[in-house]
Amino acid sequence: MNGPHHIAIIMDGNGRWAKKRGLPRTIGHREGVKRIKEIVREAKKLGVKILTIFAFSTENWNRSKNEIKFLFQYLNIFLKNYKKELMRKDIRLKAIGRRDRIDKNSIRQVEVVEELTKDNKSFIFNIALDYGGRWDITEAARRIVSDYQNKLVSKEAITEDFFQQYLSLGGLASPDLLIRTSGEQRISNFLLWDLAYTELYFPQKYWPDFNVMELEKAIEVYSQRIRKFGKI
Ligand code: IPE
Ligand code: IPE
Ligand code: MG
Repeated sequence: MNGPHHIAIIMDGNGRWAKKRGLPRTIGHREGVKRIKEIVREAKKLGVKILTIFAFSTENWNRSKNEIKFLFQYLNIFLKNYKKELMRKDIRLKAIGRRDRIDKNSIRQVEVVEELTKDNKSFIFNIALDYGGRWDITEAARRIVSDYQNKLVSKEAITEDFFQQYLSLGGLASPDLLIRTSGEQRISNFLLWDLAYTELYFPQKYWPDFNVMELEKAIEVYSQRIRKFGKI
């Protein structure tokens, strides 16, 4: 079986999961954050090498202050409690996205874990926070222009491969499989460049119900797909 090397996940449906149970949306986020560790553990066990999850988009600032506060609170607790396991399992954690709008406490927490795990090699776990695909591409363009002005790069050097190095995922292989839970079938400004040839999978389950069996199912579906990359 040819499994995916890199999986990307849009964790969607926390709010609807809670609503269905008559609970506040924030409880949905609390449950959702609990699933993350289980999914990382299982992905690693199944031979996946990179997992990139969408936790907060550049558009999610349009939600209520209260919801945003709780979401980051749960993420902070998650990161704090996760350090030991990341080290034990040789997992590197990296955040992708803007760092200038998230509260300082959360950023500090993220940077502590990034620094601690930077030499881990068995698995890469990227967490997208205040991330937007359009921001990512714009930011890359801005940095290339700056390197051009500083005479570090010539116009001829700017190929697709070169451009990709400036994106948040840098030199990492693009995702093979994108999973978006909750039945919605859209990208919502996630990894626009990197998803160019990714296989898409849209299970109905809300994210807090996406358990290890659901991940196995997703990988099984992926292994049945025929990837063509434009060839016959
Ligand atoms: C995903 O669940 C979590 C984030 C976007 C942060 P939602 O909060 O979007 O849940 P629904 O889509 O409203 O059900
Ligand atoms: C996408 O979910 C962002 C994350 C999962 C972090 P949203 O729930 O924000 O997306 P839309 O608004 O339904 O497209
Ligand atoms: Mg949603």
